[in-house]
Amino acid sequence: MTSQPVRVAVLVSGGGTNLQALLDTLQHSAIARVARVISSRSQAGALERARRASVPTVILRDPGDAGELQAAVGDAQLIVLAGYLKLVPRAVVARFRGRMINIHPALLPDFGGPGMYGHRVHEAVLASGARESGVTVHFVDEEFDRGEIIAQERVPVEPGDTPDTLAARVLEAEHRLLPRVVLDLARRLA
Ligand code: GRF
Repeated sequence: MTSQPVRVAVLVSGGGTNLQALLDTLQHSAIARVARVISSRSQAGALERARRASVPTVILRDPGDAGELQAAVGDAQLIVLAGYLKLVPRAVVARFRGRMINIHPALLPDFGGPGMYGHRVHEAVLASGARESGVTVHFVDEEFDRGEIIAQERVPVEPGDTPDTLAARVLEAEHRLLPRVVLDLARRLA
């Protein structure tokens, strides 16, 4: 019997360019596929991307409700937080330990934690005078941005960078790294 692609649930809150990178990479993959997209916001642009790809979507009424999230995740085997801004309830973290990952637009453990998202991250990197930034993909645990690091990709901070220019360079790296890590994990789960 040939095995089915690993079912991936993607949790989103925003525009969903990382979701798009996953949809594009996994579209014809025998290893993994995006089985559902779950959003903490009804207006998230990511929802439109999911609909265009004919992937079922769920909008959470209360992202803090473990039962609701668990039901939304359904029979997914791997959970990817891609621009998801809410803390995942402990019961769901426990259930998916080692099978739930997050992408963060900086080199953790620096520039992470509560409130460190979006442009704040890139502003903090620039303010620190760091010469490089990057992307981190890590397992999700009970705290924001603290779980075990799986992979990182570094990008330079260029003279004259603004939060926008740095964010764009980091985002390109995100779109390379996240699909790679998802495929690697899915191969191990299959
Ligand atoms: C990305 O920078 C991601 O690392 C962070 O939020 C941003 C989401 O971007 N967690 P998008 O919604 O995937 O375009």
